[in-house]
Amino acid sequence: MFPGGGPAVDFYRADVDQHGGRVLELACGTGNKLIPIASDDHPCVGLDFSADMLAEARRKADERGVAVEWIQGDMRNFDLGRTFDYVFITANSLLHLHETEDLVSCFRSVRRHLAPGGRFVFDVFNPSVRVLAEADGTRRTRTSLSFTDPDRGSVSVDVAETYDASAQVTRGTWYLSTGAEPDFFVAPLEIRSIFPQELPLLLSLGGLELVERFGDWSGRPFAADALVQLCICE
Ligand SMILES: C[S@@+](CC[C@H](N)C(=O)[O-])C[C@H]1O[C@@H](n2cnc3c(N)ncnc32)[C@H](O)[C@@H]1O
Repeated sequence: MFPGGGPAVDFYRADVDQHGGRVLELACGTGNKLIPIASDDHPCVGLDFSADMLAEARRKADERGVAVEWIQGDMRNFDLGRTFDYVFITANSLLHLHETEDLVSCFRSVRRHLAPGGRFVFDVFNPSVRVLAEADGTRRTRTSLSFTDPDRGSVSVDVAETYDASAQVTRGTWYLSTGAEPDFFVAPLEIRSIFPQELPLLLSLGGLELVERFGDWSGRPFAADALVQLCICE
């Protein structure tokens, strides 16, 4: 058994345990979610664009003695020649796709890879018009984004960003800090917003149906003030 790692990891582990089978994570990064899921004895495939991310994911999985198949690919359009019972995209990774055509093309690829009765789950943030309206390039602390890192402890998040309303894309820099290590991680981020009413339409263009939407990791129904859109699709 692999130790837990926060509410998102706990949610995906429990959901895969319940709905199970062959698992595919798109934009898997370094396998933060997928390695714990694979350690629960589910056959897992992780796909990511970045060779560096996959190399780190492979290193971590090997270190823990967990078997995962890592594949370099583009979630906008891929063909793995097989189907999966559970496909997921987590941690806003879907929002790296800015163009509507890319999102729909990704959903079509997911659809082709879902086995009959298969489940597609993803989480994206719920855009806040207040946060978007104040995105004027000024660096601000986002208390709602602070989190606890297993190694570093309590981490605060500052963001300096601007919002392009016509593209629905926020462009900026994220700064992660602890009391002991200010700005230990600084990275640019360009991320699309998917608004609640457009989300099911994008899915349906990709041949998928939104069957349930939660507003947090405990399964609270989605509401206007939710931070996350946790989407269950078929
Ligand atoms: C936030 S990180 C991954 C986080 C990971 N899902 C987790 O929960 O730890 C986002 C990942 O998306 C990947 N990515 C971005 N665009 C992609 C694309 N078109 N196809 C596949 N992966 C992509 C990046 O390489 C990066 O590893």
